[in-house]
Amino acid sequence: MNTPIDYELVERKIKELDVPDIGNASIREIVQLVTSIEAATGERYIRMEMGIPGLPPTQLGVNAEIEALQNNVASAYPRIDGIQSLKDETSRFVKLFMDIDVKPEGCVPTVGSMEGSYAAFLVSGSCYKERDTALFIDPGFPVQKQQMLVMGHKYKTFDVFDFRGDKLRDKLESYLSKGDINCIIYSNPNNPAWICFDEQELSVIGELANTYGVVIIEDLAYFGMDFRIDLSRPGQPPYQATVANYTDNFILLISSSKVFSYAGQRIGMMVISDSLYHRHFPYLEERLKVHGFGNAVVHRVLYALTSGTSHSAQYALAAMFKGASDGTFNFIEEVKEYSQKAKIMKQLFLDNGFQIVYDSDLDQPVGDGFYFTIGYPKMTGAALMHKLLYYGISAISLGNTGSTKEGLRACVSSVKREQFGDLAIRLQRFNADFPCAAE
Ligand SMILES: Cc1ncc(COP(=O)(O)O)c(C=O)c1O
Repeated sequence: MNTPIDYELVERKIKELDVPDIGNASIREIVQLVTSIEAATGERYIRMEMGIPGLPPTQLGVNAEIEALQNNVASAYPRIDGIQSLKDETSRFVKLFMDIDVKPEGCVPTVGSMEGSYAAFLVSGSCYKERDTALFIDPGFPVQKQQMLVMGHKYKTFDVFDFRGDKLRDKLESYLSKGDINCIIYSNPNNPAWICFDEQELSVIGELANTYGVVIIEDLAYFGMDFRIDLSRPGQPPYQATVANYTDNFILLISSSKVFSYAGQRIGMMVISDSLYHRHFPYLEERLKVHGFGNAVVHRVLYALTSGTSHSAQYALAAMFKGASDGTFNFIEEVKEYSQKAKIMKQLFLDNGFQIVYDSDLDQPVGDGFYFTIGYPKMTGAALMHKLLYYGISAISLGNTGSTKEGLRACVSSVKREQFGDLAIRLQRFNADFPCAAE
């Protein structure tokens, strides 16, 4: 078969990877595969499999981190619950960009939001013996399910595509009424679909959290990146939408990785509501020998996992939050490039027989951001993912994200503008080679 990337070689590399089903391989497996094909062929892929920030790190953070290191912070263990300036700046940041009040005490740094979600799942799952299951509002970030697997925790999931707006309440209640759910997790904007819950949906989630006493883990890895609205002005509406306006049972996860392009330093914040932080649960006390939710997070889980977050990175994040809150650093302007690239890339796919899988967001078209979803007529997501590898294009199957739709998640961040020409040519080839499917 004559394909832009040598067919035999791709097949051989897939075999060497030794995964049961390439179409459903994990993000890191695809990264490994494509890196080795690139090395063997010298061809550059259009790499859309992994959400690595494609921008330089925020300089404010880098400078603050260098200064902290020069001040010898590297030799001292950081406070597990975070240095005071970071706690204070986080509390100020959520006030100014979300209009919510959380005391610095509940603002706790973690080694990326990954550690934050791990800690949140672990403690939420240890509050009541009978509530042993987490609920994922999918599609979602696949690694969080891997965390459940590693912990040996149970989870349930549903694809929210058909349950937006008024349909969300009944769907959530159908799970919550069984009495086994301890927490609900979703990302907003959503990885991978880029849909955003509106105020009415968030109010339903918040109300049900109050009624059923479940913890809402709101993953804000893409904070402020619903570019359809300007969320960049501190202290002025509109604010980043949040369930925190409707319930006190919340943990927000704010990652530095995407908004500040700071993924390498592995730092994010858990923002735990004042009331949840101090809430006592008899089973939690028995299980982790600790009083209160917040203490369980800090003095049990984070202590056991990493004993705090890199000292210098905490100074970096404090400086970036401070710059944003002071209004001297417009972090949203910096990441707008993603939405501009998404717009162009989506069009290239549409021009070549593809469709956007999650194309609408309630009554509007879905926004342009860090990810978009693509499908090809009459092809499963796994088959599409596999076939595109021969055309020098890599992405992950939506099946990996808990989606019930056939298609792929495409991440715009690592694709350079100068590759758009190649992308167009490869998509045209693909479309010409699979015309029947595109009918
Ligand atoms: C929804 C979501 N949550 C969490 C993360 C991980 O964030 P961090 O790099 O802070 O661990 C990502 C990264 O892609 C993500 O997309």
